[in-house]
Amino acid sequence: MDKTRILVTGGTGYIGSHTAVELINAGYSVVIIDNLSNSNREVLDGIEAITGTRPDFVEGDCTDFDTLKKLFADYPGIKGIINFAASKAVGESVQKPLLYYRNNLTTLINLLDLMGPNGVRGIVFSSSCTVYGEPDQNPVTEDTPTKKATSPYGNTKQISEDIIRDTVASGAPFSAILLRYFNPVGAHPSALIGELPNGVPQNLIPYLTQTAIGVRPMLSVFGNDYPTPDGTCIRDFINVVDLAKAHVTAVERIVEDKCDEPVEVFNLGTGNGVSVLELINTFEEATGVPVPHKFAPRREGDITQVWADPTRANKVLGWKADTPLAETMLSAWRWQQRLRERGIM
Ligand code: WQD
Repeated sequence: MDKTRILVTGGTGYIGSHTAVELINAGYSVVIIDNLSNSNREVLDGIEAITGTRPDFVEGDCTDFDTLKKLFADYPGIKGIINFAASKAVGESVQKPLLYYRNNLTTLINLLDLMGPNGVRGIVFSSSCTVYGEPDQNPVTEDTPTKKATSPYGNTKQISEDIIRDTVASGAPFSAILLRYFNPVGAHPSALIGELPNGVPQNLIPYLTQTAIGVRPMLSVFGNDYPTPDGTCIRDFINVVDLAKAHVTAVERIVEDKCDEPVEVFNLGTGNGVSVLELINTFEEATGVPVPHKFAPRREGDITQVWADPTRANKVLGWKADTPLAETMLSAWRWQQRLRERGIM
């Protein structure tokens, strides 16, 4: 029997590549489109080394309608789409809002436009806990009110969710699942794929592991005067492989027409709030490697604390993020060591 074909946009990126691995492991045929603006072609080698299967790959920009239209012609029978393709640096989005609105929204609109004519049954959208802003209370459920975004990046996620809802409500012949990620961290246990941001990392873990291995002299902890037990921000750090597996379950729901409603929303988190300092300590204890760090002023746009109530995803998707944080920290460290062995960093 032919394998069900899934399109993964942004599939050579951090979460996209881990999801491509899990999709292939689950028996799907994967087509990746990526413009390689924040990733590289070697990721395909890693996916193949892990799974034994090289996904189809199109180097292209999803903001170009004709590129996407040709992809659907070249790869017929796509039944589901997972859309990762987006710019995602909070700070950069404040500096370059039009780049973020053009890239993130045009990509989505092009995909939605092409889904009906090509018989695609649904889309899984990579959303974010950033839509909740600074929640009044934690943990947050999917019914926690969203708040005005604190960055253009966060706003593109909120607007994208609205575009999807409006399109489905207009009678479009497909369903949608919005996955609101908390903080994805770690790497595949094989250390053959992982997070490899271009330039100076914006996110905590890549900066932390680069400091631990000596690429960076010091990790700055942005603020230790927050109203939290140890004064540092609290987040819900979720293992990237656990996160990837949730996408396979979501795609199955779409392809097998199991959605309870035309648009479903799920928080993907562990349900545990962990502070920046606690994370650093967990890394040091798990690896035995010290992380030189100092306290620095707060970072503009950061919220104090957010963590998930993942009950709905646990019950409806039958999915749970249960990798221990120490194991996740070890996976991040092994990945950083592999980058050093390969002379990349
Ligand atoms: C986490 C905590 C920082 C770096 C954003 C997006 C979210 C998702 C992940 C894309 C904060 C602190 C960080 C450093 C530090 N984006 N920190 N020193 O901002 O929670 O979430 O990235 O998928 O949608 O909102 O993640 O890793 O940048 O920061 O102290 O060098 O670590 O202040 O408290 P964030 P982050």
